[in-house]
Amino acid sequence: MRDGEFQDPRLVVVYDAECRWARDDDFYLALVNETPAARVLDLGCGTGRLTLALAAAGHAVSGVDPARASLDAARGKPGADRVCWIEGTSEILPDRAFDVAVLTSHVAQVFVDDAGWADVLADLRRCLVPGGRLAFDSRDPDDADGSGGIPPTPAAGSRCRTVGRSGRGRN
Ligand SMILES: C[S@@+](CC[C@H](N)C(=O)[O-])C[C@H]1O[C@@H](n2cnc3c(N)ncnc32)[C@H](O)[C@@H]1O
Repeated sequence: MRDGEFQDPRLVVVYDAECRWARDDDFYLALVNETPAARVLDLGCGTGRLTLALAAAGHAVSGVDPARASLDAARGKPGADRVCWIEGTSEILPDRAFDVAVLTSHVAQVFVDDAGWADVLADLRRCLVPGGRLAFDSRDPDDADGSGGIPPTPAAGSRCRTVGRSGRGRN
């Protein structure tokens, strides 16, 4: 894990203050809601912004993140007892346990080389049921305003580019 801001309790507070609910969160919530009472993995759940909303919507949610300070912040929020919080990475995920997996707010860009990303995708495929869904986002490198795709305001949101479905019966 490279990013110290998710491990320092003082910076975790800043993250929550800066990263408010935005339209990409609406997108993910609507996507997961397509599967009623889904078993959901939020990998890189951070402070639980979306994780808690998914649980409040009636899904069985596991929030997984290697940053203890972020998880501690998540555990202190209203509704946190509805979520299974796990300190760790994709390696510890159980087989065929989830209907939907999400990596939100650019978690996918934590993985900066092909081999590391391939390992995470293999873990995600393993932990999804056949036909399960995977959704993640990334910043837009062609973004013209120089922000790198990071929204200038929460309302602008970021684009969710990839929605995949795991192969049926081939895990
Ligand atoms: C930009 S935050 C996004 C947090 C959350 N998904 C959200 O929407 O607010 C990136 C998160 O990825 C987590 N992370 C870092 N390395 C990771 C890894 N190897 N596996 C899973 N998550 C990781 C960080 O600890 C951090 O919480």
